[in-house]
Amino acid sequence: MRMIPIALMACLGLAACVEDPEVAGPMAFAQDCAACHGSDAMGAGDFGRTLIRQPPDLTTLARRNGGVFPRDYVMSTIDGYVRGAHFSAAMPVFGAGDMGPTIVVENADGTGTPVPARLLALADYLETLQR
Ligand code: HEC
Repeated sequence: MRMIPIALMACLGLAACVEDPEVAGPMAFAQDCAACHGSDAMGAGDFGRTLIRQPPDLTTLARRNGGVFPRDYVMSTIDGYVRGAHFSAAMPVFGAGDMGPTIVVENADGTGTPVPARLLALADYLETLQR
């Protein structure tokens, strides 16, 4: 099982079915991220422009990472699990508690990692925006 069954797993796992990942990602982004990163994710939104450190363009994450979307980096940046020492304190930590029911995502070695549905939807959505 890799990325495709996720939507299916979300549906098997309770009420998450109403939250279609393809809709949930853009919605979560509009709600929680667009004010800073811009509704097109390409840079400063209205609030982002007021910050000392400008929110980066989130559509070039893959390009800036040798063409590979840095999924783990993106998810741990959003939930605050791993952030560099000099990472701006302006961006809130979106803790697992606020991210909805968890979905078990299968790793390459066959083990599973529980990931909050909203976090996964956000990462999937950002991946679709890469140019
Ligand atoms: C209050 C403003 C604010 C909000 C809201 C916000 N961010 Fe950020 N974000 C920032 C800033 C500022 C940085 C740059 C931090 C730094 O490099 O020090 C950043 C950095 C990032 C990075 C790292 C980008 C890179 O180029 O390394 C990702 C990924 C990211 N944000 C995703 C999100 C997502 C997804 C959301 C919504 C769930 C979100 N952010 C909400 C301000 C915000």
